[in-house]
Amino acid sequence: MSPTPQTVPLPALPDGLTFLDIVTEWDPAVSYQDWRPQILVPKTFRPLAAPRTVVLANQKGGAAKTTSTVELAAALAAMSHRVLVIDADPQRAALSAWLLPVYPEGLAAADCRTLTDVFFGDATLAEAAHPTNFERIHIVPSGTTLGRVESDRPVGAETCLREEIEAVRDRFDVVLIDAGPTLGLLTVAAMTAADDVVIPTLASGLDIEGVDDLQDTIDRVRRRLNPKLSVRAVLITVWDKSTVARDMATAMTDRYPDAIVAPVRRSTRAKEAPAAKEPTRLYEPTAAPVRDYDQIARLLLPKAI
Ligand SMILES: Nc1ncnc2c1ncn2[C@@H]1O[C@H](COP(=O)(O)OP(=O)(O)OP(=O)(O)O)[C@@H](O)[C@H]1O
Ligand SMILES: [Mg+2]
Repeated sequence: MSPTPQTVPLPALPDGLTFLDIVTEWDPAVSYQDWRPQILVPKTFRPLAAPRTVVLANQKGGAAKTTSTVELAAALAAMSHRVLVIDADPQRAALSAWLLPVYPEGLAAADCRTLTDVFFGDATLAEAAHPTNFERIHIVPSGTTLGRVESDRPVGAETCLREEIEAVRDRFDVVLIDAGPTLGLLTVAAMTAADDVVIPTLASGLDIEGVDDLQDTIDRVRRRLNPKLSVRAVLITVWDKSTVARDMATAMTDRYPDAIVAPVRRSTRAKEAPAAKEPTRLYEPTAAPVRDYDQIARLLLPKAI
């Protein structure tokens, strides 16, 4: 791997910002008008310890999986964690187009290693992990033909990522895998490699139903490939004050009583950040989602060092 170039540090948030209140259960007595966004941290929740591999999964498109991957990576890097993000989306490669990999000088992007090469045995994960413009964040880009993993099913694909991540364990405190909007082989491989699942979801009735299929896949992976996998957080993304957001929060707590359930508030700044090729944390540090992801990151993985 090439030496890390000069990178931009991600700032700690300015003093004086308010964070969301933390509760241990939802209070059904609070009327809708008085309801404010809060984070539910159940009494049974124990913070995670690095090194940790987390998959952000939901087969519903547009649930903010990629956004949550980038913003959590930025929040964790600002806390001094060394973060590796893996773009496991075979369709859009949105992560690789946002946190741009910095390839070794003189090498064309087409000649650089990607996740596709890792699955087909042509590169190790270490060879496919490239620095980004941001201090402490590396990325494994997806590659243009990642979809071939689903069609060609290379030998050992289900466990490939787990073995490869194990080999880079001492270089990264946190590995975040951005799964695509499918429950195919790549998502199964990501879940097999992960310790934890974070489910970003929009607040809508249809999205609640979609979580059943996701849970079936998690159960299947748990039974056959990775018994320790567990859902640690549900993020209710692009959050607006609405009855449906509140119903979603309650439904998710019923389903995942040991998981954090947290809103991530809507902000046009978060929508603009991908085009600026930087996390919202740099683009507009005072935007509400920056605070929300910062708080979620601190709850999930308090800084150990
Ligand atoms: N907090 C937010 N406020 C406003 N817009 C947001 C917020 N979070 C995400 N978005 C927007 O929602 C859209 C979907 O987000 P994103 O691409 O992260 O979802 P995804 O689950 O990764 O989608 P896909 O399934 O296609 O991979 C994007 O346009 C993104 O900018
Ligand atoms: Mg995505």
